[in-house]
Amino acid sequence: MPNQNKLWKVNKLICGDNVEEIAKLPKESVDLIYIDPPFFTHKQYEVVWGDEAEIRSYKDRWEGGIEVFIDWLKPRVKAMYEVLKPTGSFYLHCDWHANAHIRIMLDEIFGKENFQNEIIWAYRTGGATKKRWSRKHDNIYFYTKSDKYTFNLAKERIYYDKPFFSPQQDEQGRWYADVLPVDVWEIPAVINVSKERVGYPTQKPEALLEKIIKASSNKNDVVADFFCGCGTAIAVAQQLGRRWVGIDISPTAIKIIQKRLKQFLGVVEGVNYEVIGMPTTIAEARKLEPFEFQNWVVIDKMRANASRKKVGDMGLDGYYPRSVLTDEAGIQVKQSERVGRNVVDNFETALKRAGYKKGYIVAFSFTKGAYEEIARIKNKEGLDIKLITIEELLNKKKPIL
Ligand SMILES: C[S@@+](CC[C@H](N)C(=O)[O-])C[C@H]1O[C@@H](n2cnc3c(N)ncnc32)[C@H](O)[C@@H]1O
Repeated sequence: MPNQNKLWKVNKLICGDNVEEIAKLPKESVDLIYIDPPFFTHKQYEVVWGDEAEIRSYKDRWEGGIEVFIDWLKPRVKAMYEVLKPTGSFYLHCDWHANAHIRIMLDEIFGKENFQNEIIWAYRTGGATKKRWSRKHDNIYFYTKSDKYTFNLAKERIYYDKPFFSPQQDEQGRWYADVLPVDVWEIPAVINVSKERVGYPTQKPEALLEKIIKASSNKNDVVADFFCGCGTAIAVAQQLGRRWVGIDISPTAIKIIQKRLKQFLGVVEGVNYEVIGMPTTIAEARKLEPFEFQNWVVIDKMRANASRKKVGDMGLDGYYPRSVLTDEAGIQVKQSERVGRNVVDNFETALKRAGYKKGYIVAFSFTKGAYEEIARIKNKEGLDIKLITIEELLNKKKPIL
């Protein structure tokens, strides 16, 4: 039997659909899995960014109902079950939308007897209703694969106003008792002003993941998050000395995790982990969802800023702010071939409106007319527009500037 530990020498950040990527991992090699799946199917995942138009279109498309969602999730959880060690633990994070259905599905996969807890994570965030009790908790289902599993129970300190039961007093005179923890957790949610916030809309608090990872794994164990988003579980696993694997379908999420690991923990690709599956060929770039394609070009390849609001075809997809190295410039991204004169003309208008003298259009290819048009605009208007193909972007070792 191969030494499973050897296979996990290197932490992995994988960009791809988890149902395909998990199948490539060694069977029974993971100690702890935490997942926080989006409540929609693969095609609708872009809604995670909370753009209003996208949320609306998601709702319109969400016609299949809960069964479609469960049908989508089930093969994924089954694949996770396969890679979990016989002594492993599994946590699934969800909320009132689908929790009842998910629990039944998990009973089927793990066996009712392996259900351990339904953890209630209670928080207070903005947005309340007068129609009913405001929905301010999530559900986290905890299952194990057998009755042999890691559970490091640490007592928690509870403070009381008055002496009660068998309390003690700390140096400040406060009454307390150290008690066994329960399954209702009050932990502040990540909000706009939180220090740990990285700007990913569904980011979960590190304190929540810390509790789970500390209890259900030991140092050097392998922790996996197969819907890893902005990498909260990964960042906490790293800090707690666990090995880890993260999978997310969004290259944008993978980039955010890389930045988070580097900025907060000084952890870098090549030394502490490897990245697998980011688009490196024209064919892979073609397959990206439009929104991901745009982010990949603007943020990853051009090292520019993505426009905050998507303002339709006439607008700019990205921009360079004025800095020591760059002039202000606008960026337009087209996931198409033979981009022509009319796109250049629209871009010229958008640049003028934004007050930029420079700009870049990125596409798979351009027509002769497009090149003629940028020459004309340069002569007549003094605007400097460059046309960049995806092939050029991929061949450049350095970012375009
Ligand atoms: C709710 S978020 C997870 C947030 C995460 N817990 C955190 O703290 O950042 C769900 C993530 O699942 C990813 N996702 C959706 N479908 C996927 C799939 N088929 N395979 C892998 N990841 C997927 C989305 O891109 C999104 O980042």
